Amino acid sequence: MLRVENLRKVYENRKKNVKKTVEAVKDVSFECSPGEIFGLLGPNGAGKTTTLRCISTLIKPTSGNIFIDRFNVLDDEKAIRSRIGFLTSDMKLDGFFTPDYMMNYFGALNKMSKKDIELRKEYLFNELQMTDFIQKKIDKLSTGMKQKTAIAISLIHDPEVIVFDEPTNGLDVITSKSVTDFLKKYAQAGKTIVISTHIMNVAEKICDRFGILIEGEMKELGSLKQILENNSSNNLEDVFFGYILPGTDREVNHA
Ligand SMILES: Nc1ncnc2c1ncn2[C@@H]1O[C@H](COP(=O)(O)OP(=O)(O)OP(=O)(O)O)[C@@H](O)[C@H]1O
Ligand SMILES: [Mg+2]
Repeated sequence: MLRVENLRKVYENRKKNVKKTVEAVKDVSFECSPGEIFGLLGPNGAGKTTTLRCISTLIKPTSGNIFIDRFNVLDDEKAIRSRIGFLTSDMKLDGFFTPDYMMNYFGALNKMSKKDIELRKEYLFNELQMTDFIQKKIDKLSTGMKQKTAIAISLIHDPEVIVFDEPTNGLDVITSKSVTDFLKKYAQAGKTIVISTHIMNVAEKICDRFGILIEGEMKELGSLKQILENNSSNNLEDVFFGYILPGTDREVNHA
């Protein structure tokens, strides 16, 4: 079980000795259970990546805490990291190496045995339909192939919790479907999955529950049915646009 409790993140930057602060995430709370896919939705700059980076211990919350079972990001960074598979667009793969080599490298980094690495590679390469290109240099791969490689690397250690920032960004419909089908299957196997996206139909297809994040605030939280009922709407996209289109002044409902 993943639990985000009253998460707040303020970035502080100094420019020419002038302190500038951005409150990127404001008092955000949500949960995600094993077997469930939670979708964090929001426009550019809403605080999605910031929230996911806090979950993955890459940055520290300004206040609040995040729990995976009995561990939390403030006190148990190592335990949290070993339980999480994090995918982000910031991840740069070294183009000189092959997917196969990178999996061996990250498997060894995670202190996995050679046998376990082989088993895991076989599973992930098959599930993600990667077998045709695992011996090609990453430089020579398409965007979709690179994304699949990044996904496979993030899952080498068979983490319980999967945190994917915009996993289908830049992918064609076929590759996008193979990634979302894989995530659905993975959730059914009991994994806890959080994804961020601004692509509503991806979210609607695979997520069990949603949070709509606008300027760092969780404006909506719940299942599709709950959110639609709260907003007397029959379309998630309409609810989303209600928050971001100019001139819309609306009540905030929490499920
Ligand atoms: N390292 C940083 N230093 C200062 N401000 C930052 C930093 N990273 C993000 N921000 C700011 O925090 C806010 C939230 O950014 P974040 O990247 O979390 O949004 P996002 O929802 O992931 O957006 P996108 O859809 O564009 O990826 C933005 O105002 C952004 O400018
Ligand atoms: Mg982002």
